[in-house]
Amino acid sequence: MKKKTSDDHSKLLEVVLAYRSSKSLMVALHYDLFTEIEKGRRTAEALGRRLGLDRRAVGILLDANAALGFLNKRGSRYANSALSKDLLVSTSPNYKGNNLKYQEQTWDAWSDLKSVVKTGAPRLSLLEWIHKDAFTGDYIKAMGDVARGPARDLAGKLGLGRVSRTLDIGCGPGVYSAAIVEKNPRIEAVLLDLPRTLGVTRGLLKPHRHSERFAYRPADFLTDSFGENEFDLALISNVTHCENEENNLKLVKKAYEALRLGGRLVIHDYVSDSGLTSPKFAAMLAVHLLVFTGRGNVYNLKEYAGWMRRHGFKDISHKRVGVGSIYPSTAIIGRKA
Ligand SMILES: C[S@@+](CC[C@H](N)C(=O)[O-])C[C@H]1O[C@@H](n2cnc3c(N)ncnc32)[C@H](O)[C@@H]1O
Repeated sequence: MKKKTSDDHSKLLEVVLAYRSSKSLMVALHYDLFTEIEKGRRTAEALGRRLGLDRRAVGILLDANAALGFLNKRGSRYANSALSKDLLVSTSPNYKGNNLKYQEQTWDAWSDLKSVVKTGAPRLSLLEWIHKDAFTGDYIKAMGDVARGPARDLAGKLGLGRVSRTLDIGCGPGVYSAAIVEKNPRIEAVLLDLPRTLGVTRGLLKPHRHSERFAYRPADFLTDSFGENEFDLALISNVTHCENEENNLKLVKKAYEALRLGGRLVIHDYVSDSGLTSPKFAAMLAVHLLVFTGRGNVYNLKEYAGWMRRHGFKDISHKRVGVGSIYPSTAIIGRKA
């Protein structure tokens, strides 16, 4: 085979076989093997006994994770690599396992891609996923894992000095409101989400040093009002990508009503270029949203600005968040005038 053909074939294989690496890591996380290894159960034998798993199968899975660089193997003993100690051991302050484990839960939805492309709709809507008992906690914690960095970045860019009351619409784990309150602890942050989600949010924010600054508002953001002239800043973070244009227009309209004159709406999300093919993360997210929400999508700056203008917002601008990360996002900001 000519070199170019061979390189091209390797590129194809890398994409097509990526699922083997993904699933090997996800299942190791599912059984919390990295944490167990850190606790001293260093062989397939010991891990199999402790977790009630097949010894040979565990050994094969551990070897795959060693090949991926997540474990070091010496004889029959395994140790965590520096990356795993930092990010994959559940007692580490930088633990990212919740998010990685949640990706495995979405595997079932992705398995339906073939039929979704035919019918245009997934078997389960996001709301049906959220109403599954085991799912909500994992989903919300998963978002918390990845939100802390961008939340700090965004809060630092908003100029919160004169803000006294904020509304976080579809707050999830509440990480964005937490970052806002950390910047200005005089702010009262109202967190709005479905009752089931808020049950998880309250638990996550209970130990926060400014926990008294949070108020919780159980609501359905599609059907309930957000109030009138109550807030200086409304945040819709990572919510618009779960919804279609019609629902997003409703959210923008209700946020406008809820803001005081001069108040700002901040829509924070992953934004694609006008051709919808970059950044790569956004194009892949669009497929994820197709299989996972059906009606969700990744939108571009022009669409966001158009929605805001249509409902009366002025001075529309945007700020980039998480520049340099693999999933940079954007805050689109408009003022109620
Ligand atoms: C992708 S998460 C975003 C969480 C958070 N804002 C962030 O940026 O990390 C979407 C959130 O919308 C909430 N949600 C979905 N449908 C909702 C509805 N109809 N009413 C209220 N909240 C809803 C979910 O419970 C979830 O917390």
